[in-house]
Amino acid sequence: MRAKAVANANIALIKYWGKREATLKLPDVGSISITLDDLETITEVSFDASLTEDRFVLNHDAQPHETARVTGYLDLIRSMAGIETRALVESENNFPTGAGLASSASGFAALAMAASHAAGLELSPEELSVLARRGSASAARSLFGGFVEMRRGQLDDGSDAHALPILDQSAWPLGVAVAITSRVRKAIGSTDAMEQSALTSPFYGPWVSNQETDLEAMRRAIGQRDFEKMADLSEFSCLKMHGLMLSTNPGLVYWNGTTVDCIHAVRELRAGGVPVFFTIDAGPQVKAVCLPDARDQVTRTLRDVTGVHDVIETGLGQGAKLIGDAS
Ligand code: DP6
Repeated sequence: MRAKAVANANIALIKYWGKREATLKLPDVGSISITLDDLETITEVSFDASLTEDRFVLNHDAQPHETARVTGYLDLIRSMAGIETRALVESENNFPTGAGLASSASGFAALAMAASHAAGLELSPEELSVLARRGSASAARSLFGGFVEMRRGQLDDGSDAHALPILDQSAWPLGVAVAITSRVRKAIGSTDAMEQSALTSPFYGPWVSNQETDLEAMRRAIGQRDFEKMADLSEFSCLKMHGLMLSTNPGLVYWNGTTVDCIHAVRELRAGGVPVFFTIDAGPQVKAVCLPDARDQVTRTLRDVTGVHDVIETGLGQGAKLIGDAS
Protein backbone atom coordinates (compact mmCIF):
# COMPACT_ATOMS: atom_id res chain seq x y z
CA MET A 1 0.00 0.00 0.00
CA ARG A 2 2.60 2.47 -1.21
CA ALA A 3 2.73 4.84 -4.18
CA LYS A 4 4.79 7.81 -5.29
CA ALA A 5 3.70 10.66 -7.56
CA VAL A 6 5.16 13.84 -8.99
CA ALA A 7 3.17 16.98 -9.76
CA ASN A 8 4.23 20.37 -11.07
CA ALA A 9 3.20 23.80 -9.85
CA ASN A 10 0.79 25.79 -11.99
CA ILE A 11 0.10 29.49 -12.35
CA ALA A 12 -3.30 30.90 -13.18
CA LEU A 13 -3.64 33.30 -16.10
CA ILE A 14 -7.32 33.87 -15.31
CA LYS A 15 -7.28 33.82 -11.52
CA TYR A 16 -9.33 31.92 -8.96
CA TRP A 17 -10.11 33.89 -5.78
CA GLY A 18 -13.19 33.08 -3.68
CA LYS A 19 -15.32 30.04 -2.87
CA ARG A 20 -19.00 29.25 -3.23
CA GLU A 21 -18.65 26.55 -0.54
CA ALA A 22 -15.75 26.23 1.89
CA THR A 23 -15.88 22.61 3.14
CA LEU A 24 -15.81 21.05 -0.32
CA LYS A 25 -13.57 23.90 -1.59
CA LEU A 26 -15.95 24.80 -4.39
CA PRO A 27 -14.65 27.82 -6.29
CA ASP A 28 -16.96 30.76 -6.98
CA VAL A 29 -15.21 31.34 -10.32
CA GLY A 30 -13.60 29.16 -12.96
CA SER A 31 -9.92 29.73 -13.79
CA ILE A 32 -7.37 29.02 -16.53
CA SER A 33 -3.77 28.09 -15.77
CA ILE A 34 -0.52 26.89 -17.25
CA THR A 35 1.26 23.96 -15.67
CA LEU A 36 4.97 24.60 -15.20
CA ASP A 37 7.97 22.39 -15.73
CA ASP A 38 10.70 21.77 -13.12
CA LEU A 39 8.84 23.29 -10.10
CA GLU A 40 7.67 20.04 -8.64
CA THR A 41 6.52 18.17 -5.56
CA ILE A 42 7.33 14.48 -5.22
CA THR A 43 5.21 12.67 -2.65
CA GLU A 44 5.35 9.11 -1.44
CA VAL A 45 2.47 7.70 0.61
CA SER A 46 2.84 4.44 2.55
CA PHE A 47 -0.18 3.09 4.41
CA ASP A 48 1.33 1.10 7.24
CA ALA A 49 -0.64 -1.03 9.73
CA SER A 50 2.05 -0.54 12.38
CA LEU A 51 1.45 3.23 12.57
CA THR A 52 -0.92 4.60 15.23
CA GLU A 53 -1.12 8.04 13.63
CA ASP A 54 -0.30 9.69 10.30
CA ARG A 55 3.15 11.19 9.86
CA PHE A 56 3.97 14.01 7.45
CA VAL A 57 7.55 14.76 6.46
CA LEU A 58 8.29 17.72 4.17
CA ASN A 59 11.77 18.22 2.72
CA HIS A 60 13.10 15.64 5.26
CA ASP A 61 11.63 17.53 8.27
CA ALA A 62 8.74 16.16 10.35
CA GLN A 63 5.79 18.60 10.23
CA PRO A 64 3.74 18.06 13.41
CA HIS A 65 1.82 21.34 12.87
CA GLU A 66 0.81 20.49 9.32
CA THR A 67 -0.10 16.86 10.05
CA ALA A 68 -3.73 17.62 11.04
CA ARG A 69 -4.43 19.03 7.55
CA VAL A 70 -2.85 15.96 5.93
CA THR A 71 -4.78 13.63 8.25
CA GLY A 72 -8.06 15.36 7.41
CA TYR A 73 -7.24 14.85 3.75
CA LEU A 74 -6.18 11.21 4.15
CA ASP A 75 -9.44 10.57 6.08
CA LEU A 76 -11.32 11.46 2.89
CA ILE A 77 -9.33 8.92 0.92
CA ARG A 78 -9.59 6.29 3.67
CA SER A 79 -13.37 6.65 3.73
CA MET A 80 -13.54 6.34 -0.08
CA ALA A 81 -11.33 3.21 0.05
CA GLY A 82 -12.98 1.70 3.14
CA ILE A 83 -9.71 1.49 5.11
CA GLU A 84 -8.50 2.86 8.44
CA THR A 85 -4.76 2.35 8.14
CA ARG A 86 -2.53 5.32 9.03
CA ALA A 87 0.11 6.54 6.61
CA LEU A 88 3.57 8.00 6.30
CA VAL A 89 3.56 10.88 3.80
CA GLU A 90 6.98 12.01 2.58
CA SER A 91 7.04 15.06 0.36
CA GLU A 92 9.73 17.10 -1.30
CA ASN A 93 9.39 20.48 -2.99
CA ASN A 94 12.24 21.72 -5.13
CA PHE A 95 11.13 25.37 -4.68
CA PRO A 96 10.32 27.68 -1.71
CA THR A 97 7.20 26.64 0.23
CA GLY A 98 4.44 29.11 1.14
CA ALA A 99 5.82 32.12 -0.71
CA GLY A 100 3.31 32.45 -3.54
CA LEU A 101 4.78 29.72 -5.72
CA ALA A 102 1.74 27.47 -5.51
CA SER A 103 3.30 24.74 -3.38
CA SER A 104 -0.18 23.71 -2.24
CA ALA A 105 -1.16 23.11 -5.88
CA SER A 106 1.67 20.71 -6.69
CA GLY A 107 1.53 19.35 -3.12
CA PHE A 108 -2.12 18.30 -3.11
CA ALA A 109 -2.02 17.10 -6.72
CA ALA A 110 0.89 14.77 -5.88
CA LEU A 111 -0.75 13.72 -2.60
CA ALA A 112 -4.13 13.01 -4.25
CA MET A 113 -2.50 10.82 -6.87
CA ALA A 114 -0.09 8.97 -4.57
CA ALA A 115 -2.54 8.45 -1.69
CA SER A 116 -5.46 7.32 -3.87
CA HIS A 117 -3.25 4.77 -5.64
CA ALA A 118 -1.69 3.59 -2.40
CA ALA A 119 -5.21 3.11 -1.00
CA GLY A 120 -6.18 1.01 -4.03
CA LEU A 121 -8.65 3.50 -5.55
CA GLU A 122 -8.98 3.65 -9.31
CA LEU A 123 -10.13 7.15 -10.21
CA SER A 124 -10.65 8.83 -13.58
CA PRO A 125 -8.58 11.99 -14.29
CA GLU A 126 -11.67 14.12 -13.50
CA GLU A 127 -12.30 12.27 -10.23
CA LEU A 128 -8.63 12.72 -9.27
CA SER A 129 -8.93 16.41 -10.04
CA VAL A 130 -12.01 16.63 -7.77
CA LEU A 131 -10.05 14.86 -5.05
CA ALA A 132 -7.08 17.24 -5.45
CA ARG A 133 -9.52 20.17 -5.21
CA ARG A 134 -10.56 19.00 -1.74
CA GLY A 135 -6.98 19.77 -0.65
CA SER A 136 -6.60 23.06 -2.51
CA ALA A 137 -8.75 24.23 -5.40
CA SER A 138 -5.73 25.27 -7.49
CA ALA A 139 -4.33 21.72 -7.06
CA ALA A 140 -7.16 20.41 -9.26
CA ARG A 141 -5.37 22.08 -12.20
CA SER A 142 -1.94 20.51 -11.57
CA LEU A 143 -3.29 17.08 -12.53
CA PHE A 144 -3.05 18.15 -16.16
CA GLY A 145 -0.23 19.53 -18.30
CA GLY A 146 -0.04 22.59 -20.56
CA PHE A 147 -3.06 24.91 -20.62
CA VAL A 148 -5.78 23.89 -18.18
CA GLU A 149 -9.24 25.13 -17.27
CA MET A 150 -10.79 24.68 -13.83
CA ARG A 151 -14.58 24.59 -13.99
CA ARG A 152 -16.51 26.43 -11.30
CA GLY A 153 -19.20 23.75 -11.53
CA GLN A 154 -22.87 24.08 -10.55
CA LEU A 155 -23.58 20.98 -8.47
CA ASP A 156 -23.72 21.07 -4.67
CA ASP A 157 -21.66 17.89 -4.34
CA GLY A 158 -18.77 19.40 -6.37
CA SER A 159 -18.56 16.51 -8.83
CA ASP A 160 -18.50 18.96 -11.78
CA ALA A 161 -15.96 21.33 -10.16
CA HIS A 162 -12.79 19.90 -11.66
CA ALA A 163 -10.09 20.85 -14.13
CA LEU A 164 -9.81 19.79 -17.78
CA PRO A 165 -6.91 20.10 -20.21
CA ILE A 166 -7.39 22.77 -22.93
CA LEU A 167 -4.17 22.50 -24.95
CA ASP A 168 -1.09 20.32 -24.69
CA GLN A 169 2.18 22.00 -23.64
CA SER A 170 3.85 20.96 -26.91
CA ALA A 171 1.14 22.70 -29.00
CA TRP A 172 2.18 26.19 -27.87
CA PRO A 173 5.49 26.27 -25.97
CA LEU A 174 6.04 29.26 -23.67
CA GLY A 175 8.91 30.40 -21.47
CA VAL A 176 8.46 31.38 -17.82
CA ALA A 177 10.84 33.34 -15.58
CA VAL A 178 9.96 33.54 -11.88
CA ALA A 179 11.54 36.45 -10.03
CA ILE A 180 12.01 35.60 -6.35
CA THR A 181 11.68 38.89 -4.46
CA SER A 182 11.39 37.43 -0.95
CA ARG A 183 11.90 34.07 0.74
CA VAL A 184 9.71 34.87 3.75
CA ARG A 185 6.62 32.69 4.27
CA LYS A 186 3.46 34.68 3.60
CA ALA A 187 1.59 36.13 6.58
CA ILE A 188 -1.92 35.10 5.52
CA GLY A 189 -2.71 32.03 3.47
CA SER A 190 -4.98 32.09 0.41
CA THR A 191 -7.83 30.13 2.02
CA ASP A 192 -8.45 32.62 4.85
CA ALA A 193 -7.60 35.62 2.70
CA MET A 194 -10.10 34.81 -0.05
CA GLU A 195 -12.81 34.22 2.53
CA GLN A 196 -12.17 37.72 3.89
CA SER A 197 -12.34 39.16 0.35
CA ALA A 198 -15.71 37.50 -0.28
CA LEU A 199 -17.05 38.88 3.00
CA THR A 200 -15.68 42.41 2.87
CA SER A 201 -14.55 43.60 -0.57
CA PRO A 202 -17.11 45.84 -2.30
CA PHE A 203 -15.69 44.53 -5.60
CA TYR A 204 -16.33 40.84 -4.92
CA GLY A 205 -19.72 40.71 -6.70
CA PRO A 206 -18.44 42.28 -9.96
CA TRP A 207 -15.31 40.09 -9.79
CA VAL A 208 -17.48 36.96 -9.84
CA SER A 209 -19.95 38.20 -12.44
CA ASN A 210 -17.24 39.31 -14.92
CA GLN A 211 -15.22 36.10 -14.75
CA GLU A 212 -17.04 34.19 -17.50
CA THR A 213 -16.27 36.99 -19.99
CA ASP A 214 -12.54 36.71 -19.18
CA LEU A 215 -12.58 32.91 -19.35
CA GLU A 216 -14.27 32.94 -22.74
CA ALA A 217 -11.80 35.51 -24.11
CA MET A 218 -8.85 33.50 -22.78
CA ARG A 219 -10.13 30.23 -24.30
CA ARG A 220 -10.28 32.07 -27.64
CA ALA A 221 -6.79 33.59 -27.24
CA ILE A 222 -5.31 30.15 -26.48
CA GLY A 223 -7.21 28.56 -29.38
CA GLN A 224 -5.86 31.20 -31.75
CA ARG A 225 -2.33 31.22 -30.19
CA ASP A 226 -2.80 34.98 -29.78
CA PHE A 227 0.02 35.95 -27.39
CA GLU A 228 -0.86 39.66 -27.21
CA LYS A 229 -4.45 38.90 -26.28
CA MET A 230 -3.33 36.34 -23.71
CA ALA A 231 -0.92 38.92 -22.24
CA ASP A 232 -3.61 41.62 -21.93
CA LEU A 233 -6.14 39.25 -20.39
CA SER A 234 -3.65 37.76 -17.93
CA GLU A 235 -2.41 41.11 -16.61
CA PHE A 236 -6.02 42.32 -16.36
CA SER A 237 -7.10 39.26 -14.34
CA CYS A 238 -4.02 39.45 -12.11
CA LEU A 239 -4.44 43.14 -11.34
CA LYS A 240 -8.19 42.73 -10.80
CA MET A 241 -7.48 39.97 -8.25
CA HIS A 242 -4.93 42.16 -6.47
CA GLY A 243 -7.46 45.02 -6.55
CA LEU A 244 -9.86 42.67 -4.79
CA MET A 245 -7.17 41.81 -2.24
CA LEU A 246 -6.36 45.49 -1.63
CA SER A 247 -10.06 46.31 -1.19
CA THR A 248 -10.52 43.52 1.39
CA ASN A 249 -10.94 44.77 4.95
CA PRO A 250 -8.29 44.66 6.45
CA GLY A 251 -6.46 45.07 3.14
CA LEU A 252 -4.28 42.27 1.78
CA VAL A 253 -0.97 43.53 0.41
CA TYR A 254 1.10 40.63 -0.92
CA TRP A 255 3.57 42.77 -2.88
CA ASN A 256 6.83 44.36 -1.81
CA GLY A 257 8.65 47.21 -3.55
CA THR A 258 10.62 44.81 -5.73
CA THR A 259 7.38 43.20 -6.93
CA VAL A 260 6.28 46.57 -8.27
CA ASP A 261 9.69 47.23 -9.84
CA CYS A 262 9.45 43.87 -11.64
CA ILE A 263 5.99 44.78 -13.00
CA HIS A 264 7.44 47.96 -14.48
CA ALA A 265 10.46 46.12 -15.88
CA VAL A 266 8.19 43.59 -17.64
CA ARG A 267 5.95 46.36 -18.98
CA GLU A 268 8.97 48.24 -20.33
CA LEU A 269 10.19 45.12 -22.11
CA ARG A 270 6.76 44.61 -23.65
CA ALA A 271 6.53 48.26 -24.72
CA GLY A 272 9.87 47.70 -26.47
CA GLY A 273 8.43 44.81 -28.48
CA VAL A 274 9.41 41.81 -26.32
CA PRO A 275 6.53 39.26 -26.12
CA VAL A 276 6.18 39.01 -22.32
CA PHE A 277 3.63 39.65 -19.57
CA PHE A 278 3.55 39.31 -15.78
CA THR A 279 1.29 37.52 -13.34
CA ILE A 280 1.42 37.41 -9.53
CA ASP A 281 -0.38 35.18 -7.00
CA ALA A 282 -0.87 35.47 -3.23
CA GLY A 283 2.76 36.35 -2.63
CA PRO A 284 5.50 38.74 -3.76
CA GLN A 285 7.06 36.68 -6.57
CA VAL A 286 6.61 37.86 -10.15
CA LYS A 287 6.05 35.30 -12.88
CA ALA A 288 6.93 36.57 -16.34
CA VAL A 289 5.47 34.52 -19.19
CA CYS A 290 6.96 34.96 -22.66
CA LEU A 291 7.53 33.33 -26.01
CA PRO A 292 10.47 30.90 -25.67
CA ASP A 293 12.99 32.99 -27.65
CA ALA A 294 12.49 35.95 -25.31
CA ARG A 295 13.20 34.06 -22.09
CA ASP A 296 16.93 34.80 -21.82
CA GLN A 297 16.35 38.52 -22.20
CA VAL A 298 13.43 38.48 -19.73
CA THR A 299 15.56 36.60 -17.18
CA ARG A 300 18.49 39.00 -17.57
CA THR A 301 16.20 42.00 -17.14
CA LEU A 302 14.56 40.61 -13.98
CA ARG A 303 17.97 39.64 -12.51
CA ASP A 304 19.02 43.28 -12.87
CA VAL A 305 16.07 44.58 -10.83
CA THR A 306 17.40 45.62 -7.40
CA GLY A 307 16.00 43.33 -4.70
CA VAL A 308 15.51 40.27 -6.91
CA HIS A 309 17.16 37.33 -5.09
CA ASP A 310 17.01 34.87 -7.94
CA VAL A 311 15.21 34.10 -11.18
CA ILE A 312 13.96 30.56 -11.82
CA GLU A 313 13.65 29.74 -15.52
CA THR A 314 11.16 27.22 -16.73
CA GLY A 315 8.53 26.49 -19.34
CA LEU A 316 5.31 24.53 -19.65
CA GLY A 317 5.21 21.08 -18.14
CA GLN A 318 3.13 17.94 -17.96
CA GLY A 319 0.43 16.79 -15.59
CA ALA A 320 0.86 14.73 -12.43
CA LYS A 321 2.06 11.16 -12.80
CA LEU A 322 2.97 8.11 -10.79
CA ILE A 323 6.67 7.31 -10.51
CA GLY A 324 8.68 4.38 -9.19
CA ASP A 325 7.21 1.04 -8.16
CA ALA A 326 3.99 0.96 -6.23
CA SER A 327 3.26 -1.90 -3.87
C1 DP6 B 1 -3.88 33.45 -5.88
O1 DP6 B 1 -5.85 27.09 -4.31
O2 DP6 B 1 -4.21 28.02 -2.62
O3 DP6 B 1 -3.00 31.33 -6.45
O4 DP6 B 1 -8.47 26.52 -2.56
O5 DP6 B 1 -8.23 27.71 -0.40
O6 DP6 B 1 -6.53 26.01 -1.05
P1 DP6 B 1 -7.52 27.06 -1.53
O7 DP6 B 1 -6.67 28.22 -2.22
P2 DP6 B 1 -5.52 28.12 -3.30
O8 DP6 B 1 -5.66 29.58 -3.95
C2 DP6 B 1 -4.92 29.97 -5.06
C3 DP6 B 1 -5.16 31.39 -5.36
C4 DP6 B 1 -4.21 32.03 -6.36
C5 DP6 B 1 -4.88 32.16 -7.74
C6 DP6 B 1 -4.96 30.89 -8.56
O9 DP6 B 1 -4.08 30.01 -8.44
O10 DP6 B 1 -5.90 30.81 -9.37
